[in-house]
Amino acid sequence: MAYLCGRNMIAQYHTITGTDTARAAQYLREGHCIAMPTETVYGLAADAFNPEAVARVFATKERPATNPLIVHLADVAQVDEVATGISDTARLLLQHFAPGPLTLLLPRKAHIPDAVTSGLPRVAVRFPAHPVAQALIRAAGMPLVAPSANRYTRISPTTPAHVLAQLDGRIPYILDGGACTAGLESTIVGFENNQPVVYRVGALPLEALEAVVPGIQLANGLHRPVVAPGMHHLHYAPRIPLTLTNDVAAVAATLQEPYAVINFSEIKQGLNTPYQLVLSPQGDTAEAARNLYAALHQAEALPVSRIIAEVAPEKGEGCAINDRLSRAAH
Ligand code: TXA
Ligand code: MG
Repeated sequence: MAYLCGRNMIAQYHTITGTDTARAAQYLREGHCIAMPTETVYGLAADAFNPEAVARVFATKERPATNPLIVHLADVAQVDEVATGISDTARLLLQHFAPGPLTLLLPRKAHIPDAVTSGLPRVAVRFPAHPVAQALIRAAGMPLVAPSANRYTRISPTTPAHVLAQLDGRIPYILDGGACTAGLESTIVGFENNQPVVYRVGALPLEALEAVVPGIQLANGLHRPVVAPGMHHLHYAPRIPLTLTNDVAAVAATLQEPYAVINFSEIKQGLNTPYQLVLSPQGDTAEAARNLYAALHQAEALPVSRIIAEVAPEKGEGCAINDRLSRAAH
């Protein structure tokens, strides 16, 4: 097959969902992309050292090549195979949070293909905690790049069905590892003047990072194109306009058109809609994070012209929930 660029690279497959890790690994060795489960969201995996496979990831997602990919490894000891000059603080974070929903931006080793890092000086590295992801990486025998397995600007998938809805026919295999337990992308940490900086809030709560590296800062505005090019407002866009608010009833009162509500913990009384979702009946931010993307997928399938989402408490996973909802609101 001749590989051109852009959409021309999207091969037509009959997409199968299954639990055959060996088969999934075989596809990866042959240079295909497949969907893999992680504890955060499903990833669109490919051989990190095969530039053609990496190019296929960008084409399959319709993602611009200027937005780099995270490299996934099974064992923390392998970090030295992809990164160099790893600081003591970086190692401390790995000790505490790897495997888990933490991505570190580290000085790259020269043999990482430019397509993976979009030519940037650092490589993003993560060690997924999901046993199926670890088994797949080991069976494939290579580091895997894996952006979230959604089409560019669409909602990230947390179940095989979400992946199929967006990538049916574009990949040969979806490795089924069940619903993601964290439900939000990893927290991305890099270093500036040797100080750790958070570039993307995510499934690893800031409080947990703060306990290990007191005083850790958020990057300015969290939207710095040069450092983390994917962090712009178009991400996480539902197909129906979304309003994020502390006062659902007040926003609902202004609407003439049908709407759906994504509540944090309770159904609201007195609203003029049959469509109300609840992220966490327990009022628990981890449970809400786990349910967030499924709720957005569900809401955008409803016959409404507006989604009203309620602001989550700004603690634990709540910060990342509000970050994703405010991006969805743009
Ligand atoms: O939880 C996750 O991180 C999921 C799962 C599948 O592991 N992956 C994920 O990948 O969210 P993606 O591509 O959707 O988001 C990765 C973010 C992007 O905003 C990208 O710009 C940034 O990480 N990034 C990746 N490599 C980078 C690099 N070398 N320098 C700066 N930013 C980078
Ligand atoms: Mg993504």
